[in-house]
Amino acid sequence: MARIVQFDRLGGPEVLTLRDVEAGAPRAGEVRIRVQAIGLNRAEIMFREGGYFLQPRFPSTLGYEAAGVVDEAGPGVTGFAPGDPVAVVPSFSLNDYGTYGDLVIVPASAVVPRPSTVDPVTAAAVWMAYITAYGPLAESGEVRPGDHVLITAAASSVGQAALQIARHVGAIPIATTRSAAKRQRLLDAGAAHVIVTDQEDVPARIMEITGGEGVRLAFDPVAGPGVETLARGIAPGGSLVVYGALDPRTTPLPNARSYPALSTRTYTLHEITTDPERLRRAVAFVNAGLASGSFTPVVDRTFDLTEIVEAHRYLAAADHVGKIVVTV
Ligand SMILES: NC(=O)c1ccc[n+]([C@@H]2O[C@H](COP(=O)([O-])OP(=O)(O)OC[C@H]3O[C@@H](n4cnc5c(N)ncnc54)[C@H](OP(=O)(O)O)[C@@H]3O)[C@@H](O)[C@H]2O)c1
Repeated sequence: MARIVQFDRLGGPEVLTLRDVEAGAPRAGEVRIRVQAIGLNRAEIMFREGGYFLQPRFPSTLGYEAAGVVDEAGPGVTGFAPGDPVAVVPSFSLNDYGTYGDLVIVPASAVVPRPSTVDPVTAAAVWMAYITAYGPLAESGEVRPGDHVLITAAASSVGQAALQIARHVGAIPIATTRSAAKRQRLLDAGAAHVIVTDQEDVPARIMEITGGEGVRLAFDPVAGPGVETLARGIAPGGSLVVYGALDPRTTPLPNARSYPALSTRTYTLHEITTDPERLRRAVAFVNAGLASGSFTPVVDRTFDLTEIVEAHRYLAAADHVGKIVVTV
């Protein structure tokens, strides 16, 4: 048997229920994992509430990330043996698989070895955040040493990874937060400058920081009408990469009349995680950063699996900095 988090209707954290269900056997191309830690993501709140690009099919499971050990590999799966330490990379649909449980089945293509030096809680805080930030900040080659980059919602788990990757490639990260209370924590986390969006004029501050040049890249999960404000802080020829929708309002496309030579695009880590070659390079990049100490995943707080409702409440409140991890 397995203990799995399921929900039968859209709603708040209280719809999440921990149930005993048949563990099931992994099929061809799948691996069953004995989970030790689960990384929570805002996408999972959106999925639970019905605000994600996918609608749940009930009863629905939940969860993109986990760390643990291999329990059983399905027919035809090579390279994984029972007991191997592994982590789960988000590369599948939440309608097909979920990681919130103590014994879960995921596609073998989503399973990566976990270096013995990386404990399960840390490993559960790595893959969504670091691969998401790796794409635009490292893989694309757009950001060069000395460039200023704007990292909005920098207290988020992705934002924390983005600060570290920006530093790693030699860029100068400017962080934003809505809350002045997070300013010092963002500076401690590697931000060169922090702009409090509720109190400061964002483009004016960017221009002051960058000597009137603007940032090379703005990496933004907020979206909504605020992208027009961000666009005013981007250097000519620079990029605006929108990778989330924290602001549910319509996102206008900054147009050529107001913002000449600005490249705007949306981005998802699935571009990388569903391409074996790009995923291999991303995993190598992140593992090298973990091994050298350049990347130190920030875990804000842990909860037990039995506290999944409280963990989702805490995530929704958005008072955290970094990752929230559920231990099993
Ligand atoms: N495209 C992709 O592949 C991809 C992958 C991973 C995540 N994402 C997206 O990235 C975003 C961050 O994900 P996460 O799991 O790292 O988030 P998280 O840890 O829950 O952090 C979210 C943070 O965003 C800030 N924020 C700004 N505006 C907000 C708003 N209207 N509502 C709530 N929070 C707001 C808050 O910080 P302050 O209060 O300090 O401003 C909050 O702490 C989400 O939109 C998620 O869907 C996209």
